[in-house]
Amino acid sequence: MKRNERNDSMWKRAIEDAVTKTRANLLRFGEQFPHVSEADGVYQLQDNSDWTEGFWGGILWLCYEYSGDRAFAEAAKKTVASFRQRMENNFQLNHHDIGFLYSLSSGAQWIIERDEAARRLTLQAAETLMRRWRPKGQYLQAWGREDDPDDGGRIIIDCLLNVPLLHWAFRQTGDSRYRDVAVSHTDKSRKYLIRGDDSSYHTFHFARDTGYPLRGNTFQGEHDGSVWSRGQAWGLYGFALAYVNTGNEAYLETSRRLANYFIANLPNDHVPYWDFAVAEEGAYRDSSAAAIAACGMLELLDRLSPGHPDRSAIETAACSMVQSLAERYSTIGDADAQGFIRHGAYHVKRGLSPDGFMIWGDYFYLEALMRLERRSRGYWYERPAT
Ligand code: GLY
Repeated sequence: MKRNERNDSMWKRAIEDAVTKTRANLLRFGEQFPHVSEADGVYQLQDNSDWTEGFWGGILWLCYEYSGDRAFAEAAKKTVASFRQRMENNFQLNHHDIGFLYSLSSGAQWIIERDEAARRLTLQAAETLMRRWRPKGQYLQAWGREDDPDDGGRIIIDCLLNVPLLHWAFRQTGDSRYRDVAVSHTDKSRKYLIRGDDSSYHTFHFARDTGYPLRGNTFQGEHDGSVWSRGQAWGLYGFALAYVNTGNEAYLETSRRLANYFIANLPNDHVPYWDFAVAEEGAYRDSSAAAIAACGMLELLDRLSPGHPDRSAIETAACSMVQSLAERYSTIGDADAQGFIRHGAYHVKRGLSPDGFMIWGDYFYLEALMRLERRSRGYWYERPAT
């Protein structure tokens, strides 16, 4: 399936349903932030303390851009105030997920409103992410303390969506530290997280004291050698963004190859199982992986040359994934539903929300719809001047 008039009206209907739900959620959620749900479809609400709060802000900004309704912008700005407080208190920022948090909140506000305070906060966020840089190994440490024997030497593929914040900071300031760290971390990820068959490890360990590469493994996947579908999606989108930010063709090629692997392993309804190793009837799906991958593929399509032989398959896959999400997984027509797409999987092996709404799944689904309907591109990089 390709972009065409018939699905254009479907994208519009799906966006309008998401905007209506977000309006209702504003009242439901108040000052709190939605995280994930169990199969009962009730979002767990929490304070601004985790890695996921930026996605709610991102949804609010997308709803504002689609509808022009200032109520969404005002609500989004309240989340930015919460992120400012979090930064001032240096609260739960000792991890790499700073890009997820600040690109979609203050970063989006800067992109949309050119608000100087939002720009400064986003620069502070980039500086906070730089604290994860480990010069010996030349990577950004994902989680935990620097001296942690295990986490101290670990990178994870999800980080490729945090790295664009550093490229943005380089463009804003001209300070090459940001670009150099972003490029070194991306190169390291490409060399060690991507396997020869174009699948990916979720995480990779290095010796903390020497930076020597040790082993690939997984945190959220089925087993170390399996392919966690959301990790593959983070990778394909992350390398596409790395290409946008650097023009390095090797990143574009990596994104394309990860996308082809993803497409080749999709089941008939175009929404992956949570890990490609458990692709069997009855296993949990991860609708959020499909939403992330669709955004990555749509970015890739904007970057591949017009005559590239893979264009057609990638466009068909991206549109088919979004169509399947809208037709089979979405809550369109269910006015009481809190989330946009069902059957996301958070951390199956730990029994954490293996089948429910994921706030990032909702964000990327709406970003994908907006890419298709409005040709807009989310908030991962500055928009070209018009
Ligand atoms: N970045 C964490 C996850 O994808 O679950």
